[in-house]
Amino acid sequence: MIRAVPAVEEGHAPPPLLVLDGVEKSFGPNQVLKNVSFTVHPGEVIGLLGENGAGKSTLMNIVSGALRPSGGQISYDGATHELGSITEGIEAGISFVHQELSIVGSLSVAENLFLGRLPRNRLGLVDFAAIRSASRAMLDGIGADWIRPERLAGSLRAGEQQLVEIARAAARKPRLLILDEPTSSLTPHEVASFLAYVRRVRSEGTAIIFITHRLEEAMEICDRLLVLRNGQIVSDLPPGRTSRAQIIRDMTGKQSLFEYQPRAVPVSAPALLLSDVSDRDHLRDISLEVRRGEVFGLFGLVGAGRTELLETICGARRLRAGRMELMGQRHAPVDPAHALRDGVALVPEGRKTAGILPQHSVRRNASAAALRSMAHGPLVATAIEAQRTGAEFKALGVRMESDRQPITTLSGGNQQKVIFARALLAQPRLLLLDEPTHGVDIGAKAELYEIVRRTADEGLTVIVASSELPEINALCDRVAVLSKGRLAGILERDKMDDATLLRLAFSGHEE
Ligand SMILES: Nc1ncnc2c1ncn2[C@@H]1O[C@H](COP(=O)(O)OP(=O)(O)O)[C@@H](O)[C@H]1O
Ligand SMILES: [Mg+2]
Repeated sequence: MIRAVPAVEEGHAPPPLLVLDGVEKSFGPNQVLKNVSFTVHPGEVIGLLGENGAGKSTLMNIVSGALRPSGGQISYDGATHELGSITEGIEAGISFVHQELSIVGSLSVAENLFLGRLPRNRLGLVDFAAIRSASRAMLDGIGADWIRPERLAGSLRAGEQQLVEIARAAARKPRLLILDEPTSSLTPHEVASFLAYVRRVRSEGTAIIFITHRLEEAMEICDRLLVLRNGQIVSDLPPGRTSRAQIIRDMTGKQSLFEYQPRAVPVSAPALLLSDVSDRDHLRDISLEVRRGEVFGLFGLVGAGRTELLETICGARRLRAGRMELMGQRHAPVDPAHALRDGVALVPEGRKTAGILPQHSVRRNASAAALRSMAHGPLVATAIEAQRTGAEFKALGVRMESDRQPITTLSGGNQQKVIFARALLAQPRLLLLDEPTHGVDIGAKAELYEIVRRTADEGLTVIVASSELPEINALCDRVAVLSKGRLAGILERDKMDDATLLRLAFSGHEE
C-alpha cells in the first residue's frame, strides 16, 4: 500500500522561501556550479562560505536573477521561478549587496541611497527635504546613525560606503537579502551594528544569505553554514554541528597538516614493552607498552625524563632496574650501536649538538648509520651510498643543490630531514624522535609531520618526545605523560585534551 506523504511536517514549519535543486552554471567550457541544491526558509540566516573562486558570487548572481543558470530548478515563494533580470529579482523581494561597491563618490550619501529613484514633489522637482529625512531613517535602520546624508559619498571610509549600500538594500524591505562579503571592510563597531540589524530583520521573517570569510562571525550569527568548494555544496550544517576546523577542511578539501589525522593502529603484540624501568638517577619504575605502527607520544615538562627514557631505550643510558622487550625479545642494548643493530634508531634532540656531523657532506650525514650495509669490502661503495641516500632524500623532500655540499649549508628544516634520512636508512623497527621539529620553520614542520605519519603508516613504530602540546596533539595516537621521572599517566587519543595533559605533566610538582 502506498501512503501519502504529509505535505506539511509536524511543527508547522513555514514553507521555504527559496529552493535550489540541481543548479548548474558553466561559462563556456568552465563549469562553475555543479548540482547545487539547498533550501532557505523565511527568517533564516545562511552563511555561504568557500575559498576564492568557489562560485559563491556566481551562485548569488543566479539567485538574484542577474545570471541565468545553465541547468537545474529554482523555486522562489512557492512558484518555479525564472528570474530574468535583477529588476525582476527586486520586484520579487530579493536585494543583493554586491562585493564590488556601486557607490557614486561625487554624489551625496542621500543621493546614493535614492539613486535612480529620486522622489519628486508635486511640481516635479526633486524633494531634497524628503530625501534627507528618509535617508536618515534608512541609515538609522541599520545602526549607521553617525553617517550624515549630506556627506559626499566619496569622502566616506570603505566600511561606511559598504553600510550605505546595505542601507539601500535594506530599505527595500526585502524578503531575501543577499550580502556578498558585507563585513570585510567594517570596523568591529560597524560589524556589531550590522549584526544587530541582521538579528532584528530575521525576527521579522527576512531571510538572509551572506557570504563571508570571517568564520567566527558566521558561526555566531548564522542558522546554517553552507560550504561551497569547486562549485559544489560540500556541507550544509548548523554551527553547532560543525566546527571551525571542519569548515576549513570543507572549504579547502584538505586536512590541516597541524591537526591529528585519525589512523587505524592495528591491534597486535606490542613493539616495545617497558616493565618497571629505572635508571640510576632520573627514571623511576616506568611501565608502558607501545603498539606496532603507533605514533606514541612522550609529553612532560623540562626535566620530566623524556630524553632520558629515549636514551635508555636506545642504549645510551644504563638500565638500573626493570626490563625492556622489543618485538617480544628481551631488549638490553649495551650502547646505541647495539640498539641500532636491534632496530632502534634515535633522532636526537638538538641537531647542532648531537645530530649532525658538521664537517661532513649531506650524503655522508645521511649514510652514517648505515655505512656497514653500503660497504664493499673495507670501502664504502660510493655508488650504493649515493643511490640509497638519494632515494631517501627524494622521499623526504630534502632541498639542496648537491648531496656533496656540507650539511651546515642547509636550512634547519632540511638538516633535520637529513637526520631523519639517516635514521630511516638504518631500517629501524622502532624510531625514536626527540623534539623532532625544534627550531625548524613552519613549512618544514608540516613536512616533518607528514614524514612521521607516512613512516608510521608504513608500519614503523614511532615514539615522539615533545614539550609542545600542539605537536603531541597533531601526531600522536596515544601519549604517556612523564613527571619528575615517573609515569604520570597514559592517555588514549580521545582523552588527549590539553588540560588533562598539563594536569598530568604538573602532577607531583605541587609542594
Ligand atoms: N562572467 C564570468 N565569465 C567567466 N567565468 C566566470 C565569470 N564569473 C565567474 N567566473 C569564474 O567562475 C568561478 C567562480 O567565481 P566566483 O563565483 O566569483 O567565485 P567566488 O565568489 O566564490 O570567489 C571562477 O573560476 C571565476 O573565474
Ligand atoms: Mg565572490
